[in-house]
Amino acid sequence: MSAVHHNPAAPKVPAVETLNLEKTYRTGFWLNQKVLSLKPCNLTVYQGETFGLLGPNGAGKTTLLKTLLGIVRPTRGRGALWGEPIGTQTVKQRLGYLPENPYFYDYLTGWEYLEFTAGLFQIPRPRRRQRIPELLALVGLTEKTAQKKQLRQYSKGMLQRLGMAQALINDPDLLFLDEPMSGLDPLGRYQMREIILALKQQGKTIFFNSHILSDVEMICDRVALLVQGELVCVGSLGELLGPDNSYRVRGQGGDPKLLEQWLTNFKIQGNSWSGLLQGLPGEFLLHLQNTSAQIWDLHQARPSLEEFFLQQVQKQVVVTDR
Ligand SMILES: Nc1ncnc2c1ncn2[C@@H]1O[C@H](COP(=O)(O)OP(=O)(O)OP(=O)(O)O)[C@@H](O)[C@H]1O
Ligand SMILES: [Mg+2]
Repeated sequence: MSAVHHNPAAPKVPAVETLNLEKTYRTGFWLNQKVLSLKPCNLTVYQGETFGLLGPNGAGKTTLLKTLLGIVRPTRGRGALWGEPIGTQTVKQRLGYLPENPYFYDYLTGWEYLEFTAGLFQIPRPRRRQRIPELLALVGLTEKTAQKKQLRQYSKGMLQRLGMAQALINDPDLLFLDEPMSGLDPLGRYQMREIILALKQQGKTIFFNSHILSDVEMICDRVALLVQGELVCVGSLGELLGPDNSYRVRGQGGDPKLLEQWLTNFKIQGNSWSGLLQGLPGEFLLHLQNTSAQIWDLHQARPSLEEFFLQQVQKQVVVTDR
């Protein structure tokens, strides 16, 4: 695997760019019904970034991903990967893709399946023999399982890992992952996050769709929210949710004059008090150690990504038929 280490000080190079990219599907017997799945979309994802695309069911996430991959033709607008038009052979060689519902050939073993995908990229046989075990180790599948078991005997989690291995077969620079954590148990999700973080360490650009907001919060540099085909917001968690260094504190007892020196918006209600703490809570808690103050609750003042997501989605038109 190429080890291109990401240098945060280096100038940002766009890996994915879209300019008014738009997709309307035609459906119905006469293809006379239109579904506007992606409204004009302007988005840039930089090289080395882990980018999370969020949105409710039917928002258009898979449509955007497939358009960027060159699987779906845009109705209007343009897209580019490293400055080259989407869908060209040279660009496709550098992409990896884990589909939302990967189709697996039930009667192949995992090993045979990876051999097959390696063949699609015309990876020479000696290289395959080296690459396949490397990938199995990365995704946490044993060589014995991969060689002996047919895919119909794999669990959902094992299939998802194999899907990840096939997405990496050509050592892609840019990975598109459609719901990589779906169907995984907490351990499986943790391992998938670790794999994604390891790939990020190697300098890969990762573009993924997800519903699992806590995972997105843990691993993404930037996120975008798509609602009913419209890109509602794009930014880092800090930009979207506000700074992460202020805390809401609630407690009881202690000297109000002293507490007021630490907490803004300090209020006393009945026998409890509350306020907003700026900066890390360590020093504040140490300070309270030798007083009679008790802390009942201390949590980050900014909304969680889930709260933000729900607020933004509810602001948009009510969604039916998802
Ligand atoms: N091939 C197609 N033909 C017609 N309509 C389609 C097609 N694919 C998707 N759509 C419609 O486009 C809209 C967006 O679908 P898309 O699959 O991109 O959503 P999504 O955000 O990926 O949803 P989910 O979270 O459920 O995967 C939906 O209204 C869907 O019905
Ligand atoms: Mg989808």
